[in-house]
Amino acid sequence: MRILAIETSCDETAIAILECEGDEKSARFRVLGNALLSQVEIHKEYGGVFPALAKREHAKNLVPLLESALEEAELLHEDTQAIPEETRAKISEVLAREPGLTEAFFDFVSECEPPAVDAIAVTAGPGLEPALWVGINFAKALALLWDKPLVAVNHMEGHILSALAKEPVPTPPSGTRFNLVISDVEMPVLALLISGGHTELVLMKEWLQYELIGQTRDDAVGEAFDKVARMLELPYPGGPEISKLAEEVRRANSVRSRLADQASAGPEGGEEQSFEVYLKLPRPMIDSGTCDFSFAGLKTAVLYLLKDTKGMIYHTSTQLTEETKMAIAHEFENAVADVLWKKTFLALEETAAQTLVIGGGVSANTHIRRVFTDAVDVRHPHVSLRIPAAALTTDNAVMIGLAGYYRALRKEFSPEIVANGNLSLAD
Ligand code: KG4
Ligand code: ZN
Repeated sequence: MRILAIETSCDETAIAILECEGDEKSARFRVLGNALLSQVEIHKEYGGVFPALAKREHAKNLVPLLESALEEAELLHEDTQAIPEETRAKISEVLAREPGLTEAFFDFVSECEPPAVDAIAVTAGPGLEPALWVGINFAKALALLWDKPLVAVNHMEGHILSALAKEPVPTPPSGTRFNLVISDVEMPVLALLISGGHTELVLMKEWLQYELIGQTRDDAVGEAFDKVARMLELPYPGGPEISKLAEEVRRANSVRSRLADQASAGPEGGEEQSFEVYLKLPRPMIDSGTCDFSFAGLKTAVLYLLKDTKGMIYHTSTQLTEETKMAIAHEFENAVADVLWKKTFLALEETAAQTLVIGGGVSANTHIRRVFTDAVDVRHPHVSLRIPAAALTTDNAVMIGLAGYYRALRKEFSPEIVANGNLSLAD
């Protein structure tokens, strides 16, 4: 089955085409086309995703991305198409709320043969509703025109499945065809989903059936990364920026401790302080005994730390020094990783999960990946840890195609998809 997948839930516009075969026990996917445009540079000056702008950008990007995904998949065949008046009118109605898209849509499709795809999958939620609607309406228009079934995809299911997917090594660069396999998944699966909008622990006991084990009571972890980065005057998105600084501190600390070892712990060697000695941030709810999270307090603690007079030792007058930024980034990332692991550990104990998945944009974080890899090795060596390949950690349409395939296998087609910003996995 060939799936055309569309993702517009946040600030990435993406279209992928996947050739899929197999069943829920073992499925293979060949990514025929994979086109993605990130809006990060555009949202940077607002310090976060600006929904109206995201919507406008998606509307601008979808047609060029469709063309490039079809071309890459060798499914783009130019031929003048006569679109019946009735179909044209219906499509115009569907696209009426997406200014600028209608004209580009008709210009493109009236010169392009219907491609050989079997279904169209699109993200229905969660995400920013105005952004979701653009993708959904675009998918509906294509489905009407080409007479294809539509599949509504939960974005978070996409994150889980892309973590479960294995690919051949080495990872091919984006833009070239690559293969993915989802097989030998030992149930139950525990998924830690960490993104800009989500922080939750979800249990999959049966294939694609979910139970919520824990979630954040306030901010999502990616949101906390982004907000703390803003306090540290780092650009959006903050996650990768904080990670870079924190990793520098770890590198410096490991060099220091090597040097100290070499100086055989003489008095000079012992005097060298590592960054983390200077400050400590809380680990909110770490001992609550539940699998719920809270990150708002951690963010506020950073704020107080910056305002605190004791914090002045890190400042030269009113300016944040590079060293302060690094020390806070380091301690903040350590605090986040400590809480995430502790809660996940508790959930693993409670659920006896055999597979642990980490998904969502924050799963790109080097330190979190390392902490989980080491901790699973030591504390739960029988658990299979699945973290997505780097190219699949942040939002993309391949993950929507994976989820779309399984839903299409179950014949879960939905002609009337509605955007749902708060769509949950566990209803
Ligand atoms: O899943 P995603 O691409 O979009 C949402 O569905 O939210 O996640 C985006 C989030 C942002 O908050 C971003 O700062 C965070 O993922 N992120 C990271 C890293 N890369 C992206 N957070 C920590 N470390 C990273 N390396
Ligand atoms: Zn996401």
